[in-house]
Order: sequence, then C-alpha cells, then structure tokens
Amino acid sequence: MKKLIDFITDEVTKAFVEAGYDEKYGRVTLSNRPDLCEYQCNGAMAAAKENHCAPFVISDKVAEILSGNEMFSMVESVKPGFLNLKLSEGYLASYMNGMQEDEGRFGCDKAEDPMTILVDYGGPNIAKPLHVGHLRSAIIGESVKRIGAYMGHHMIGDVHLGDWGLQLGLIITELKARKPKLTYFDENYEGEYPAEAPFTISELEEIYPYASGKSKKDEAYKEAAMQATYELQQGRRGYRALLEQIINVSVTDLKKNYENLNVHFELWKGESDAQPYIPAMVQKMKDDGFAYISDGALVVDVKEETDTKEVPPCMILKSDGASLYNTTDLATMVWRVQDYNPDMMIYLTDKRQELYFTQVFRCARKTGIVRPEVGLKHIGFGTMNGKDGKPFKTRQGGVMRLEYLLNEVNEEMQEKISENQKAKEDLAMTPEEAEKIAKTVALAAIKYGDLSNQASKDYIFDIDRFTSFEGNTGPYILYTIVRIKSILTKYEALGKTLPGPKDHVIRPAHNASEKDLMLVLSRYNAVIENAFEETAPHKLCAYIYELANAFNSFYHETKILAEADEETQRAYIGDLLLCKGILEACIDMLGFEAPDRM
Ligand code: ARG
Repeated sequence: MKKLIDFITDEVTKAFVEAGYDEKYGRVTLSNRPDLCEYQCNGAMAAAKENHCAPFVISDKVAEILSGNEMFSMVESVKPGFLNLKLSEGYLASYMNGMQEDEGRFGCDKAEDPMTILVDYGGPNIAKPLHVGHLRSAIIGESVKRIGAYMGHHMIGDVHLGDWGLQLGLIITELKARKPKLTYFDENYEGEYPAEAPFTISELEEIYPYASGKSKKDEAYKEAAMQATYELQQGRRGYRALLEQIINVSVTDLKKNYENLNVHFELWKGESDAQPYIPAMVQKMKDDGFAYISDGALVVDVKEETDTKEVPPCMILKSDGASLYNTTDLATMVWRVQDYNPDMMIYLTDKRQELYFTQVFRCARKTGIVRPEVGLKHIGFGTMNGKDGKPFKTRQGGVMRLEYLLNEVNEEMQEKISENQKAKEDLAMTPEEAEKIAKTVALAAIKYGDLSNQASKDYIFDIDRFTSFEGNTGPYILYTIVRIKSILTKYEALGKTLPGPKDHVIRPAHNASEKDLMLVLSRYNAVIENAFEETAPHKLCAYIYELANAFNSFYHETKILAEADEETQRAYIGDLLLCKGILEACIDMLGFEAPDRM
C-alpha cells in the first residue's frame, strides 16, 4: 500500500503545479507543530525565492486550490508561507480500512526485489561465558534480521563462533594435565575417537577460567597452551577431534542460552570453518600483488586519500605465518560469497571494532573477495553500563553471565506480577503460569531496554526502570497489548463476533483521541521501511511507544464496551484490532512476544 504521506504529497504537488509552480515544492512532512496541524508543507518558502514573490502569495494560492479537496479537513496558509494540513476523518478512516484489509501486513508492502542479507551477530566465544557485548549483539542482530525478513528479504543469521583462539589451547593443555591418558593426546593413535565428549559443560566452564588464570602466572604453562593452539591450527588429529567435542558441548549450551533469549541462528559456523579457505585466499592476494611483506608480516594497504584518520594496513599473516582475527573474517567472506552470494553482509559488534571493520571491508573489496555492488555494513554498538556508569556487573559484582542476568530480571518480574495479582483476586494465576508470564515480560524488559536506545550509544541497564509497567518500557508495551486483548475478549463474551479484515468497520473518528490513534497507526508502513533502511530497531521502539500512548489516551477517553451504538462500537473494535496487530508485528520484529494477561 502506498504510504499515506506520499498520497498527501501527491495532492499537494498537484496543487502546486496547478498554481503554476514546480512540482518539487509539493513535499509534505509530518507536522512539527502537532498543536496546529497534522502535516505541513514548507514548499512555498523555497518557491518564493525562485519566483521572486512573497511566500504567502504562493501558499495562499495552493491553499485555495486544495480547499475543496476531500483528503483534508483543514488547509491553512500561514504567514510567512507555510501550509498547515489536517486530514479529513473520512479519508483517514478509509486508509485505516485499507490497512486492515491487507492482512498481517497493515499496508506495509514486501520489497519488490528481495535481497539475500547475511547478518553476522552473536559472536560468542567457545567455552568462554557470554558477556554484555554478546548480549547486545544477539538482541540487536536478531531484530535487524527479523525486520529484514518482515520486509521480504532472505535473511541468514550466522553466529560466527569464536572457536579458533588461544582459549582452545588453554583448554587442551589443562585437559591434558588432568587426563593425560585420553587417546586425544596420543600422537600415535590412529583409530576412531570416542563419540562421547570427555567433559561436561560445567567442567568445561570451570576448566577455561582455571587455565586462563594459571597461564597468567605460569610462563611454561602459557607456552604449552600456545603450542597446543598452534598444533591445533596446524591440524593435529587428536586436537581437531577435541575441538569438535568442545564445540559440540559449547554449542548445545549456547543454543539453550540463545533459545531463552528468543534468538535463533540459521548458521552455526565459526572461525574454524574459515580455515580451509585461508591458503588459497592468501595466495591470490599475493599473486594479484595486493599483499606484501612488511616487518615480516604479510599485509594489504587499505588507506585512502580522503582518510582523515590513519587507517593502518590490514594484517593478513603474522611473521610466524599464523593467521589472525582479520584473516578469519576475510576467509569467512570467501565462503559466504561462494555459498550464499549475499547482496549485503551486516556485522554487529561493539563499536570499538569500527576501525577493524573498516580495514577488513576495504581489504575485501580491494582484493576482490567481495564485489563492489555487495553491501558491507558494520553496526557498532555502545556499552551496556550499570547505574554507576561502568560496564554492567551483576548485583554480586561479578561479570555478567547471561543466565544470571536473566534470572535476576525474571525474579524481579515475578515479584511485580504477583503484586499485581493480589489486586485482582478473581483472575488469580497458578504459580506456573505466573512464572511463565514473568519470563515473557522479563525478556521484553531486557530487549526493549536495549533496543529502544540508538545502537551506537552507551546505555544504562537499569532493572528497576526496565521492569516498570509505566513509561517507555517493554512491560508498558506488553501491558497495552494485554489491555487490548482483554477488551476484545470481553467484546466476544457479549456474544458479538470480531469483525474480519474485509468488513471495513472503521468509521470516521468519533473524537480527537481516536483520530490521534489513527494518525499514528497510518504511519506504520513508513516506519517499518525506514527502520529497515537504517537498520534501526530503536525507530520501531519509538513508534510503538507513541502508538501505545495514543491507544491508552483513546482508551481513557472513550467508552468502548459501554458504547450503545453498535456501529460505533464496532468501529472502535476495528481500531483495536489494527492497533493490536501492528503492536504484535512490531514486537515480533523486536524479538519478543506478549502474554494474554499479566
Ligand atoms: N567473537 C568475537 C568477540 O567476542 C565477535 C565476533 C564478531 N564477528 C566477526 N565476524 N568478527 O569479540
């Protein structure tokens, strides 16, 4: 469906042309003075310059032409030359009915040329606990992916495991110290390795920090870990088999964690999967004359003349021939292009990796790994801080571990929900139900708390604020949806059936708050399109907050279930259905859902 603002611009443009002015002056924007009008056009100001006359002469003429137009209930020319517009209730209602008829899409068309877009997010490191940065990457990445999918693009999420670093050498070294008899360590062993992993996830989680701590005090131990990492990367059979076991055990655990966050990946590839592509990639970079030796290391220059800050060369191989984080990212692009041929690749990491991605992207383009027409985008996000302004720690002062954080918020939520329940004894929930609802609401609190901030900004993770049912929070949005659901249930309990999408029940607004609600609803397609183009989930949050506020004002000022006039009541129910549908579509794109009650 065409965007409402485009319909309006069309009408105003026609009027400008009819009045003898260029069509480019007809552009309409949302009003920045909602107290005066709903939409505005400032084109007369610019047209006046070209036509050497007073702007209001032009705006007067255009207003005159638009005066009989059914689309508007008010067209005002205001000095010095603004056009203030209000939509007619009838026009707005017909747009609403059109949205409702467009089932599940509410007027938001899918992309005409769907793209294949690969989103690299999550980025957890094997055997290391997830930390705050991983949480943000998962939450924002999942939403970016879902917005793209809603727009009809083919979205592929890849978790890009960190499964190739020193942490593996450390684990291998410590395992060897504890269980030296395992066949994995026997260099002469040529048979099959056991299917069962020689450790559990809790052992693994204990081994890594232990080994990491030990390597900091014990130089020989660290040497051994580095040697093990090297041998693993060189393909030592027993170590590769161990790596597989470590990945399996970790991934099982990670999947559970991400599941709890309602985050899902299409691909579970890791840095190690890129290794087979490195030799040929490096050879080609050399053959094509892009890579050269500098201070023993193999590098590719990526600086550009227009740089205002220094962009150092992209290092491809260290002087000992070892590959790096860059090498892996570049080789990962090789298989991504080969296997999925994406039109765009989006990466989500902490914004401190910005320069790094500038180097990698430039190198990929320069060396032809990625064709010029393929989009490469890095979304660098800010830090999640605690109330003290420092990177978030749990109440116990420990590093954030995902489960702890989730548990903390779950508990807080459960308390709030049982508080709420005490107030309405008639609907008392079972403890199981309360627990399930608390989880749903807690997740919304966390995700909305994160996503409502522009990604690049740091923000303060404030459990008390995020879990509040009032204000710009996830629970407030859910509460609004629950309120709508409850009215709809009561409406049905009166023996009435809900209108269908083709029933066109919405009538011209009966009061100002209903019109305000419609005005917000009607912007849906424009908002989603924009949030997709700018990969900006926070725009969706801002929109649903505005929508929830508009709905709640309408709700407080309008008797819905007590309305005696059937048709009016049905029109209200039509508004509610549209509002619920849009809120639900939006929270799904943000990666959470609403319970039936709370
Ligand atoms: N594993 C990395 C980390 O923990 C994040 C990976 C981000 N993705 C990438 N393609 N480099 O910092």
